[in-house]
Amino acid sequence: MPDSQPRSPAKFITFEGGEGVGKSTQVKRLLTRLGHAGIKAVRTREPGGTPKAEAIRSFILQGRSEEWGAGAEAVLFAAARHDHVTQLIAPNLERGNWVLSDRFSDSTRAYQGLTGGVQPLLIDALEELALEGHTPDLTIILDMPPDKAFERVAQRALEDGIPSVADRFEKEDLNWHGRLRAAFLDIAEKNRDRCVVISAEQDAESVAENVWQSVCAHFPEVTRAMTG
Ligand code: TYD
Repeated sequence: MPDSQPRSPAKFITFEGGEGVGKSTQVKRLLTRLGHAGIKAVRTREPGGTPKAEAIRSFILQGRSEEWGAGAEAVLFAAARHDHVTQLIAPNLERGNWVLSDRFSDSTRAYQGLTGGVQPLLIDALEELALEGHTPDLTIILDMPPDKAFERVAQRALEDGIPSVADRFEKEDLNWHGRLRAAFLDIAEKNRDRCVVISAEQDAESVAENVWQSVCAHFPEVTRAMTG
């Protein structure tokens, strides 16, 4: 690329999907691969990413907001997200660092909106307030049947020797997780330019390769960076 051309702006990529689909593994793999291509990126997660958002995360995942209902939880997730966007995501993008987030606003749409029954009007308003225009450039939705994802979570807990303690959402039944899966697929269908659905049933290596192909297809500058 000639020196006179402005550098492409940094990209914001989010990973979404149900429980146990392997998002964090894939976020780490993409971070490493972008690094090899000479692209500086940071990894973060939701709920969380900043001290204030992490405080809200503990409160929700311990189940302390459950009795308040899905609407109040949507507001809490949005409050955490606004801090995350303004304190971590936007500043990094401005510095030229790509940002990879393990979950973001589509989780509120899927968990609290489509599955939890919170009105679309409230979800839309919260999203507008929290994002301040920072819609992801690409969203990777990792998809697999919930019964297989559950088996994977149980297997991992067995291998780690740590009994798995179900958090606020993990303890919901299979039917609920099936509706959650459908909610993410619905979001992908309605946002085809931004979302890519990748099967998470394959081994981690193959999923990572599919993620990489999607990133290269969406952002030609990645391929250019690698070819010099
Ligand atoms: P976490 O342990 O990070 O789960 P996972 O590994 O599946 O990402 O817990 C986050 C939980 O919070 C997860 O069950 C999804 C849920 N969640 C929402 O319900 N709404 C949201 O907006 C976000 C970001 C997460």
